Amino acid sequence: MNQGKNTSEINSHTYVQAGSSQPGTAGHPGLDAWRQKPIKQQPGWENHPDFASSVEKLSSLPPLVFAGEVDILRERLAAAAKGEAFLLQGGDCAETFADSTADRISAKVRTLLQMAVVLTYGASVPVIKMGRMAGQFAKPRSSSEETRGGVTLPAFRGDIVNGFDFTPEAREPDPKRMLQAYHTSASTLNLIRAFTTGGFADLRAVYQWNRGFTANPANARYESTAAQIERAVNFMEACGTDFEALKRVEFFASHEALLLEYEHALTRLDSRTSLPYATSGHFIWIGERTREIDGAHVEFFSAVRNPIGVKLGPTTTAQEVTDLIEKLDPRREPGRLTFISRMGAGKIRENLPRLIEAAQAAGAQPLWITDPMHGNTVTSANGYKTRNFTDVVDEVMGFFEVHQALGTVPGGIHVEMTGDDVAECLGGADPIDEAAFEDRYESLCDPRLNHMQSLELAFLVAEQLTKR
Ligand code: PEP
Ligand code: CO
Repeated sequence: MNQGKNTSEINSHTYVQAGSSQPGTAGHPGLDAWRQKPIKQQPGWENHPDFASSVEKLSSLPPLVFAGEVDILRERLAAAAKGEAFLLQGGDCAETFADSTADRISAKVRTLLQMAVVLTYGASVPVIKMGRMAGQFAKPRSSSEETRGGVTLPAFRGDIVNGFDFTPEAREPDPKRMLQAYHTSASTLNLIRAFTTGGFADLRAVYQWNRGFTANPANARYESTAAQIERAVNFMEACGTDFEALKRVEFFASHEALLLEYEHALTRLDSRTSLPYATSGHFIWIGERTREIDGAHVEFFSAVRNPIGVKLGPTTTAQEVTDLIEKLDPRREPGRLTFISRMGAGKIRENLPRLIEAAQAAGAQPLWITDPMHGNTVTSANGYKTRNFTDVVDEVMGFFEVHQALGTVPGGIHVEMTGDDVAECLGGADPIDEAAFEDRYESLCDPRLNHMQSLELAFLVAEQLTKR
């Protein structure tokens, strides 16, 4: 996953267990402070007979990512916050164990790489590639129960907690699922590392794949950008660019760190610095429902060294932004903090400016990225949770407009997408309609952009980036 000069340093890191509550650990009291705070969105399974043994097992397993990689990502994100890079973060709303197959993972990585080529051309700066992958298994829910036909069962909280089927057995939270989530993350990450260092990411191949997109007459509008990219690649080739070297790309893993027992058990002290790193993924974020300043999630995140994100919904106040900065980034460290706004297309232009101004007044330069998905969820006439592609695009455009007006940096996008030909979001140049949901709606959680819609969004964002 990480290549080049830092590899040997990364590999030489060793870890000791972190957290005073774990047997035989070095002890790090700050890592347990979250236990004294009110906590939301947990399954309430501490008394389950398999809970303690599952957590203990997790804390003895190897880290999924390495401190050196995490530090490199922080540097990359610091560059993005200054406009010297751009972050592309994407993947499923909820990964599932069943769909963590080679085909599905490669389609997702491939789509992200295709989007990244288009965005790199538009932005003329490096694109940081980050999956909502290899750990995105826990979901916050608006209600802890679900009722169907008079029967009430625990809500589905993601494969790391319980099963999706609407039966009492499937919906019973099972702590052993945390171990399956760990192993599924490990195998996903292993495949991603192989793809992104083993030739799959060859720039020439990636841009060839994009020909499939422009060959579709519905995408004629994007032909001229595609032709410009083709000319740029040809130019690089004529100049003698070492395409072999470009076969290896950095790719980072991220997820919402919702289940704090899981995250805590995978937190390790880096042997060089004795500082704690969440080793469940390179980048972790706090969701809109768990970002209270006095809550357990903010407390836990304040104790780890990783670059972290916080989702900011439409009700976020300027004071909350100031407080989050003080708590999570007291040293104003470049790359440490990313704010992921998810306002809704109709609200971003009004709500985002005061939050950006609050961060400026606090002397911070967080990375600002847009999640144009979660504020734009609607129910279709035939009963599916969906999003209109036009709303997604409108929120992204609003994000660029706000930053342009303030002279600040629109640093990235965060999308729910897949590499497959699903029908979950409405519209796009080759439009998806509601009838298609009956056959091709697969998400267990929120609706994702399909392969074509994802590429189309990349072309539209690239057009904006050329103006940045
Ligand atoms: C998500 O990213 O899937 C999610 C639940 O988002 P939010 O916290 O913004 O609602
Ligand atoms: Co979602």
